[in-house]
Amino acid sequence: MKSIKVIGTGRALPEKVLTNFDLEKMVDTSDQWIVERTGIRERRIADENTATSDLAAVALERACDKAGMKPADLDTIIVATSTPDTVYPATACWLQRRLGIAGSAAFDISAGCSGFLFALEVAANLLVTGTAKKAGVIGAEVMSKVVNWQDRATCVLFGDGAGAAVVVPGNGSSGILASNWGCDGNLAPLLYQPAGGTRMPTSEKTLREMAHTVHMEGNQVFKHAVRAMGNSSVKALQDAGLAAADVKLFIPHQANIRIMEEARVRAGIPPEKMYVVLHKYGNMSAATIPVAIDEAVEEGKLQDGDIILLTAFGTGFTWAAAVLRW
Ligand code: ACO
Repeated sequence: MKSIKVIGTGRALPEKVLTNFDLEKMVDTSDQWIVERTGIRERRIADENTATSDLAAVALERACDKAGMKPADLDTIIVATSTPDTVYPATACWLQRRLGIAGSAAFDISAGCSGFLFALEVAANLLVTGTAKKAGVIGAEVMSKVVNWQDRATCVLFGDGAGAAVVVPGNGSSGILASNWGCDGNLAPLLYQPAGGTRMPTSEKTLREMAHTVHMEGNQVFKHAVRAMGNSSVKALQDAGLAAADVKLFIPHQANIRIMEEARVRAGIPPEKMYVVLHKYGNMSAATIPVAIDEAVEEGKLQDGDIILLTAFGTGFTWAAAVLRW
């Protein structure tokens, strides 16, 4: 086991709510289609002045409050995001600036919707080797600024938000019992943002063609997500020497209720153990898992010693799963 302890969690969600009924007025869609195909009822949308680091800062401050410390006490800050404030520097550095802190290692992880689990894995390894003593691990996204609001196949899916966890070395009673991660970059073109990097620098043409927004083959993503989240969950449980019945809470990445359900069934977890926030927030990419964890903690659904199974899938493609003793 990688002995670590989550000593505080927090979340930040923009105030503005965009419902399926609002979307009916923007594109050719319906509440019924969105609910039946995705399980999403509404999502939060950041205002024009809010960037990813702003949401990350609020989530991290709340997590630090719960942990009884200040962001300045952290020696390591990892932000998982696909919607950085800028191409460079890292959103984690903008986050330091926003909080008025300096000195800690601060870097981003780009692993799409699997980002929070990748960041947690990196943080755990830094903590157990002594490189880090107090880590802030954050998943934060402002998806609404990279979505094509004229494309009904994608704009109904996403939302904005951030979740954070303060993680420290454990005393042997809590931590990551087993975890795995993987990627298949050959499938990168199935879900990506074509323009804005060195492959296709931003130009009048890319703007006209909306190449700076999410491009996705939804059916392909769906198929791969179900398989990868199911397989990685089963493997993590096996490696931990546990059965599905040992799991108190299953928190999968929240992209689509049908993907989550199929992953749950493949992992052998009963429906009442799956924790869902998707209907309220849509797909917040790297933020969905830490936001869900924070809500579960707040509702008293996670107690010391409980086993939780986390799994995710995202652009890359990337996937990951982790079994934690809380
Ligand atoms: N409203 C109404 N109709 C729509 C909408 C919409 N918002 N979007 C698509 N349609 C139409 C399509 O045009 C199509 O019409 P047609 O049959 O006349 O051609 C019809 O609905 C069916 O489209 P499909 O794409 O086959 O619908 P599907 O059941 O596959 O659902 C969806 C689409 C929801 C995108 C699904 O494929 C999905 O969830 N995929 C995963 C995508 C995802 O989660 N991406 C997030 C990033 S990765 C991650 O987080 C795991």
